[in-house]
Amino acid sequence: MASLTFKDTSVPATKGHDVLGQLLTVGADVRYLCMSGSCGTCTVKIVSGAEHLAPPTEAETHCLKTSGTRLACQACTTGTGDVTVDQ
Ligand code: FES
Repeated sequence: MASLTFKDTSVPATKGHDVLGQLLTVGADVRYLCMSGSCGTCTVKIVSGAEHLAPPTEAETHCLKTSGTRLACQACTTGTGDVTVDQ
């Protein structure tokens, strides 16, 4: 089963579910504010497994300032492999 890892926390990576929501269900200490893709607070570095995230929307791409990052509240796992993020 594919997994989503943040620091010392891992959860099953569920197809079509956003990274932030999945990590919050297990109490991961991810910084966030709006949960709607506009503030950028939830930006995470993709350590590995970027290919197992759905492509960013135009709005997410506009908000991102650094390559190799995604908005945790917008990036959805595809469930096809392991993803590791950090913040
Ligand atoms: S929490 Fe604001 S962009 Fe994700």
